[in-house]
Amino acid sequence: MTKAVLGIIGGSGVYDLPGLEDVREERISSPFGEPSDALRIGRVGNTEVVFLARHGRGHRYSPSDINYRANIDAMKRAGVTDLISVSACGSFKQEYYPGFFVLVDQFVDRTHKRETSFFGKGCVAHVPMAHPVGPRLQERIAEAAKTEGIPFSRGGTHVTIEGPQFSTYAESMTYKNLGYDVIGMTAMPEAKLAREAEITYAIIAMVTDFDCWHPEHDDVDVASVVAVAQKNATKVARLVARVARDFPAEHEPCPKGSDRALDGAIMTAPSA
Ligand code: ADE
Repeated sequence: MTKAVLGIIGGSGVYDLPGLEDVREERISSPFGEPSDALRIGRVGNTEVVFLARHGRGHRYSPSDINYRANIDAMKRAGVTDLISVSACGSFKQEYYPGFFVLVDQFVDRTHKRETSFFGKGCVAHVPMAHPVGPRLQERIAEAAKTEGIPFSRGGTHVTIEGPQFSTYAESMTYKNLGYDVIGMTAMPEAKLAREAEITYAIIAMVTDFDCWHPEHDDVDVASVVAVAQKNATKVARLVARVARDFPAEHEPCPKGSDRALDGAIMTAPSA
């Protein structure tokens, strides 16, 4: 049996996890460099939970400067089997208003300045990414949101841009017309690296704004993102704590194989 350990990566406005008990801080070094912050390791009920502030406490790293590989590697070394990412995002849908949570299950990666793989020269691997989100983990988040009475929807596409600038009007309209649901700057390459690390991944996209396409809403700015993220931080904590409290002791095999992603993925011959 593999013991389930739940990892949480908190984004803008989510720098801590109230409700985490018996907390100890651990600085985990990684061959890929420094993670964004010390891991906060504790428990919620009987579940071991590992929290990491994606931008570091005090928000020190911009989306392009985050060491995503070190963050995921640190989670793996801490024993994390299932990872929930909490990310602020802009919305392309009228019905996804600020404060609403979207449990997206697809990503379009438009980042271009980041290390996106643990593999490369010397060891080549191609993991499947058709279904980047673990459906069972997502189901647990959905059940927890229902129990807590938190409005959410399930499914949808997140476009991840490089940033740090927000999108132009033309870009925003393009993404909207392509049918994307939300936009952010950090979900990729996080989801790809979690897959390579065989960690089951799901994301709570917390809508903070309507980007800049909406004729009846102001264009996105940092002040509004931070205000909405802070206002919803307790809701996030409640949701995540509920998932953790109801989490099984044993890691559940992922129906989409995210926890076995390296089976058959490595191209390089052992003797090469
Ligand atoms: N994060 C929060 N809102 C965003 C937006 N509109 N675009 C990109 N990242 C975001």
